Amino acid sequence: MSEKTYSPISVDLEKDKRYAWCTCSHSSNQPFCDGSHRAHNKPPSLGFSFEESKKAYLCTCKRTGNPPYCDGSHKK
Ligand code: FES
Repeated sequence: MSEKTYSPISVDLEKDKRYAWCTCSHSSNQPFCDGSHRAHNKPPSLGFSFEESKKAYLCTCKRTGNPPYCDGSHKK
């Protein structure tokens, strides 16, 4: 039996591009929203963008205290 780890996903984020981080965990395109929250009656995604391109580790366990970033909560 496999166990889901909910490790963060490393992504290269582009300057000024608008992203939607999945808050509900139902998206098939983690860590980003694919619209699945609507079918599950969950709150919408969290929109974010950056003023410079950078690599970031985005949370997939949805327990982070600093969304959309991983803060290590998946290990607790
Ligand atoms: S699919 Fe999870 S917030 Fe949209």
